[in-house]
Amino acid sequence: MTAIRIEGAKVLIVGGGSGMGLALAMRLLAEGASVTIAGRSRERLAAARRHLGDHPNLATRAVDITREEEVAALFQGGEPLDHIVSTAADIEGAYQLLPSIELVAAQRVVESKFYGPLLLAKHGAIRLPPAGSITYTSGVAAYRPAARGSVVAAVNAALEGLVRALALELAPIRINAVSPGWVDTPIWGFVAGDAKQATLDAMAERLPAGRVGQPEDIADAIRFLIGNGFTTGTILHVEGGHRLV
Ligand SMILES: NC(=O)c1ccc[n+]([C@@H]2O[C@H](COP(=O)([O-])OP(=O)(O)OC[C@H]3O[C@@H](n4cnc5c(N)ncnc54)[C@H](OP(=O)(O)O)[C@@H]3O)[C@@H](O)[C@H]2O)c1
Repeated sequence: MTAIRIEGAKVLIVGGGSGMGLALAMRLLAEGASVTIAGRSRERLAAARRHLGDHPNLATRAVDITREEEVAALFQGGEPLDHIVSTAADIEGAYQLLPSIELVAAQRVVESKFYGPLLLAKHGAIRLPPAGSITYTSGVAAYRPAARGSVVAAVNAALEGLVRALALELAPIRINAVSPGWVDTPIWGFVAGDAKQATLDAMAERLPAGRVGQPEDIADAIRFLIGNGFTTGTILHVEGGHRLV
């Protein structure tokens, strides 16, 4: 078995300023990795840095992964890099019934969850060693779609197709995705607004796991995908049994 070392590894987490990405940063720093968290908002990154205790092995980088020149610049420094993770998603305004969907909101979902990940692979994979990996974030909406969630359902499915294709094209670099169920993160402000807690509580009662997910549940799964050298082209479902109900 080829063990992929986390201690000393250099990991870029796009979306690391909040939610699952932030939990992953905390997990990997605790295991001795050097972590760069990236996202659009410098304020969010600064708050995340404080949350992570100004860890000496932490760097922050402002980038919008929907802009190719910014993604290219992200990888131009020449610093060593072992793994890339994206938990980025811009779903603001996208959870709407069809008559109310604004094309620009739908495009932001596609750009942040499909083209952004594509650009990260295009410009980042050449910087990774053969034992490196890229891990994306899909979602249960691809399997249990709901009204108002059509765009997100479609984009997650497209991303999963990309994972399988890139796992072949970029081999031996490993390409995977985690597919979370409902996880209590700031993104729910965009999905449910003031009804966030009631919506999550109702789902917790339905799920076989008896609760919704926490960011750490997903961080644990991504940690596995980074560290398991025999896993590629895989969608790892971490959703409390959501696909069964
Ligand atoms: N939470 C759930 O229940 C759930 C369920 C299924 C799937 N997911 C998926 O899981 C992933 C992580 O979600 P989360 O709940 O952790 O969300 P989150 O807390 O909102 O984090 C998303 C992060 O993405 C960053 N981001 C958005 N657009 C970006 C862009 N264009 N370029 C760079 N960074 C960008 C945001 O930072 P800035 O705004 O500063 O850029 C933010 O830090 C997403 O792909 C989401 O679709 C979530």
